[in-house]
Amino acid sequence: MKRIGILTAGGDTPALNATIHGAVVRANQLRIEIYGLIKGFNCLFNPRVPHVHLNPLFQEIPELDPTKGGTLIGSSRDYIDPEQGQELDRITDRLKKLGIEGLIAVGGDGTLNGLQPLVERLPTVLAPKTIDNDLGLNYPSEPDEWTRVADPESKQRYRYTQSASGAAFDLNQIVNYATPGYATAVLVAAQGVERIRTTAESHRRIAIIEVMGRHSGYIALGTAYGQPDIILVPESPLDINLLVERVKHLYDLQKNVVIVCGEGVVDKNGQELGAREPSYDPSGNVVLTGASEALRQLLIDRFGDAYFQKFRRAESAKAAVFTRKVGHTQRGGRPILFDRFYAAQLGGKAVDMLLDGQNNACSVLQWSRARGFYVDGYDGNAFRDRWGLIHARNMHPSFYDPELMRPSRTGVEYLLPIFTNAIGHADVEYVREATFDAGSLFRPYHSVNTDINKRIRYLEGD
Ligand code: F6P
Repeated sequence: MKRIGILTAGGDTPALNATIHGAVVRANQLRIEIYGLIKGFNCLFNPRVPHVHLNPLFQEIPELDPTKGGTLIGSSRDYIDPEQGQELDRITDRLKKLGIEGLIAVGGDGTLNGLQPLVERLPTVLAPKTIDNDLGLNYPSEPDEWTRVADPESKQRYRYTQSASGAAFDLNQIVNYATPGYATAVLVAAQGVERIRTTAESHRRIAIIEVMGRHSGYIALGTAYGQPDIILVPESPLDINLLVERVKHLYDLQKNVVIVCGEGVVDKNGQELGAREPSYDPSGNVVLTGASEALRQLLIDRFGDAYFQKFRRAESAKAAVFTRKVGHTQRGGRPILFDRFYAAQLGGKAVDMLLDGQNNACSVLQWSRARGFYVDGYDGNAFRDRWGLIHARNMHPSFYDPELMRPSRTGVEYLLPIFTNAIGHADVEYVREATFDAGSLFRPYHSVNTDINKRIRYLEGD
């Protein structure tokens, strides 16, 4: 191969530029040209295929900064429809005209699903990214556990359920132990918890902090580093009686409670608290908004004003129970060392895999007790269930203690290798130097998009 393409798809993460950087560094070593395709799969629907040459003369362009969050080549939630054969022909033709012989898609489970129609036409490798940490398998046989029934109401036309696992669980067997973007998101969420605590403590309040993660509770689990009193994860249906009992005990004891809830948390019927009115984003994901608000209402109804007024702790239940979302701050900004380092390695590995002749494969971050973290490759087809669908990974149930509503011993064992040295000296120094840089008061923000726009080239004559 002489020229490959790279695109970033789905929601942004802090480590995307680091992955692109790792791929470009490896491409330079191998004397391969690498084109960045603008705005994910969206670029492929455009006959002009907007793109940027990321390594002219095998030197990376200066805008490619692995310490900057987001993606300099843009992203979108557009995916290719496998049933649109003609569109697929046009896309392959455009890439061929551009001289692209292999493609790296940096994305999560949605991207891996989205590129399946392409892999029969062009060698394609996925480099993983997601703050949700839901790309991977708890053990290699997990895709075989899915069953489906027809459900005309659902967007996918089927309802998928995972049967109880007979597989013995071992941390060493996880496929893609952690994904770049996850560690930085946890840092931001855990810091948010720590900061909200002081208000809850000072004003005798109950705080509910909602974190991202869709249907998986990895981010919520990781916020244990910020010491919330209670963590609620989507994998464990809400037991409202237990929650109320626990909140009451804690509030009586310490006059404040901090609860973290994953945005996809469900009630005992499996219904998401945050998606009473189902709506979907462009890639068909349920938009989850309002889990913390729904939870707040439940607590207000169960406690009532009298409970808070009895000891004059607050004027009303409404005043006592408040919610905050960490929101998109957990998806943005500078990636911490763990994310930068492994993102770059996974990007480089994806280039090697393409050159090895692999197709529909993923670079993955593996961990074992004996070796620690190492980068490997995994067959994309092995992520698919028997109908060809790739499911987002749920957090393994053994990571969570539903009685104590916090990480179990296995959950703690899972978190430790990722986070123990996740922050580097440079990350700390960056905060010291950059946060109150006097120059920021005078200089307007200079967006990387302004510079990249000047570098965008188009496929001529289509
Ligand atoms: O998948 C990443 C993620 O940040 C989820 O955690 C969240 O539900 C969703 O994307 C939010 O997407 P958007 O930025 O489109 O609102």
